[in-house]
Amino acid sequence: MGHYDTCSYRSPQGDQVFGVCCDQSAPPPVPEEDKNEVKLEELDAVIEDFPIDFQLSDTCGYRTPRPRVTLYDKVPKPFFYIVNGQEAVEHEFPWMAALTNRGRQFCGGSLIDSEHILTAAHCVAHLSKNDVQYLRVKLGDHNIKDNDNTSIEMRVKRVIRHIGFSSKTLHNDIAILTMEHAVQFNEYISPICLAAGNNQYVSQRVTVAGWGTLTDRGRQPNELMKVDVEVWTNDRCRNSYGSNAPGGITSHMLCASLPDKDSCSGDSGGPLFRCGEGSNGLCTQVGIVSWGIGCAQANYPGVYTRVTSMREWINTIVSEY
Ligand code: ARG
Repeated sequence: MGHYDTCSYRSPQGDQVFGVCCDQSAPPPVPEEDKNEVKLEELDAVIEDFPIDFQLSDTCGYRTPRPRVTLYDKVPKPFFYIVNGQEAVEHEFPWMAALTNRGRQFCGGSLIDSEHILTAAHCVAHLSKNDVQYLRVKLGDHNIKDNDNTSIEMRVKRVIRHIGFSSKTLHNDIAILTMEHAVQFNEYISPICLAAGNNQYVSQRVTVAGWGTLTDRGRQPNELMKVDVEVWTNDRCRNSYGSNAPGGITSHMLCASLPDKDSCSGDSGGPLFRCGEGSNGLCTQVGIVSWGIGCAQANYPGVYTRVTSMREWINTIVSEY
């Protein structure tokens, strides 16, 4: 995996392709905001259309409390997942999306309404028009390798990246995919709520889920994994990363980890969320898996795109595209 642990995947030709900043040396620190970035005033997004109105759902964030006999009393498997997490209960998080390219899972995402997937810009920044033909969003899945009758695969007709995304600084690491058509919600497929307001979520327990590697440079599981982590203050995160953060820790980033617990490669683009108490407690997405140095390193928590800072952007994109 790359030094900054961003996407790496097998290209169609079979060689390993990395996302951003993959050399083993830390690049020189760059100023807080990317000064060279061309910013379009009116349109803060890069929109790519692929031919083939919006209300964020008012029924979002419901987990599917359908324990198949076991649930949390299930004996944990003797291995650790995501990094030191555990296997999710099947279909527990019905907003989880797996992004695949020619059948290979490379990033996560979340369903935010019937036709939009929220993900990280770095997940889709390297996709060519040709790749997008093979891009699929898998919804309603748990084991991404087996055949089941709960999951569906959607094509993507539009990829919208934040105009301020930079693969050097990893600023504004957010993108929205418009699926070829709207999905029908059911107990396996339903959207997550998005955080709004200015809660910083400091010290709160939050959950991250994904099909990413189980350790830094480790193997990828077939089943969806989850782990609970805690939100750091941005100051602590800034001090901890020091000059090793490629573009600093900005206010639109959120850091979270617990000792030995973290997201990892392949979890990118997936949601960090907070669920209310009780089995019906609604879940609200507060972050998007973005980057980290290695995985589960004490000084380097997972860094997430902060959803509350991006709410306006999300609302605009979803209403217009
Ligand atoms: N950027 C990585 C990816 O593409 C995920 C990084 C998360 N890293 C971490 N240490 N939390 O999958």
